[in-house]
Amino acid sequence: MTVTSPSVTARAAGILSRPVTINGLTVPNRIAMAPMTRMFSPGGVPGEDVVSYYARRAAAGVGLIVTEGTYVGHESAGQSDRVPRFHGEEQLAGWAKVAEAVHAAGGTIVPQLWHIGMVREQGQAPYPQAPAVGPSGVRTDGTEGTGRAMTQADIDAVIGAFAQAAADAERIGFDGVELHGAHGYLVDQFLWSGTNRRTDAYGGDPVARARFAAEIVAAVRDAVSPEFPVVFRYSQWKQDAYDARLAETPQELEAILAPLAEAGVDAFHASTRRYWLPEFADSDLNLAGWTKKLTGRPSITVGSVGLDGEFLKAFQGQGAELGSIDNLLDRMERDEFDLVAVGRALLHDPNWAAKVLAGRFDELTPYEGSALKTLS
Ligand SMILES: Cc1cc2nc3c(=O)[nH]c(=O)nc-3n(C[C@H](O)[C@H](O)[C@H](O)COP(=O)(O)O)c2cc1C
Repeated sequence: MTVTSPSVTARAAGILSRPVTINGLTVPNRIAMAPMTRMFSPGGVPGEDVVSYYARRAAAGVGLIVTEGTYVGHESAGQSDRVPRFHGEEQLAGWAKVAEAVHAAGGTIVPQLWHIGMVREQGQAPYPQAPAVGPSGVRTDGTEGTGRAMTQADIDAVIGAFAQAAADAERIGFDGVELHGAHGYLVDQFLWSGTNRRTDAYGGDPVARARFAAEIVAAVRDAVSPEFPVVFRYSQWKQDAYDARLAETPQELEAILAPLAEAGVDAFHASTRRYWLPEFADSDLNLAGWTKKLTGRPSITVGSVGLDGEFLKAFQGQGAELGSIDNLLDRMERDEFDLVAVGRALLHDPNWAAKVLAGRFDELTPYEGSALKTLS
């Protein structure tokens, strides 16, 4: 039997159990659920199984749930009829039940608003006739595919769809919204020079590439109450291009993030695949750490928390290295970032947060991919 060191137990509970405020929202602790596409919502409607999937994790102590990516009301936003949509009466009624159940379980919840842009394959549900659209009609791998560059009318329509979704989120009881600006989807396609080749006001230097995102943030801000939190998720990496980078230096990163903070982002969610990796030379700060330092806004870190074998070992009192709980707690204690989002470990174990917050580390078990197959 492994014995968890009392000091690690108490330290984890002490640091992770502190509430944190994002604009008008108080999150009861520092553990967030990372957004994870599940494709269990036929017709784009989150049903009772989706309601209980999220409520189960809130009841087990997750402070802030970021839902799976959910399509905004623009016909080119997505390409699956099993991904929940954030428009339409039945779909929003399903989402209202999710928010209500999470609140009843003591948690807070924001939907992740999503448009996939040039990732879309034409001919796919839910709107097979819709074209794939993006800043320049170019995919993350540099090919042109079958999509097209967005016109100003397209841009205005998508901005309006994000604003409408945010207004609906507030109306049906969510605690805020997260805008999906990461991983090579539409908003990120504008941010990244690899997919944004525009020569108008939406392309060129980092500030121009951030303009589309900043206009979405401003429109969302206008559509919701001043205290309603707006979170912006972004990443250096893209799906299919893990080594891609938006910014090579802190200065470049600041050029992108400052207009977004100025437009009304209340917190940033800096998506990395391993939270312990330094983002730039000559500093130990990770991407969430740099984000907070450069913008002054609260930030959320993410990436392989609870997955690395060393993390489990540390929980179990065997000492550890890079991906350890001690490393995470040290960074949180230094206020490098404010929340930690957990993805796969929370899929694998709905009670992960309860175990960690109560110091029941010996009950944690290694992640298994079979968790992806069910909504348990
Ligand atoms: C099944 C699955 C689906 C995901 N879907 C989304 C998504 O809809 N939106 C998003 O921003 N990230 C998505 N991600 C990335 C996660 O939010 C998270 O950043 C990533 O899994 C790393 O965290 P982890 O190591 O704790 O799992 C997904 C990840 C997984 C495993």
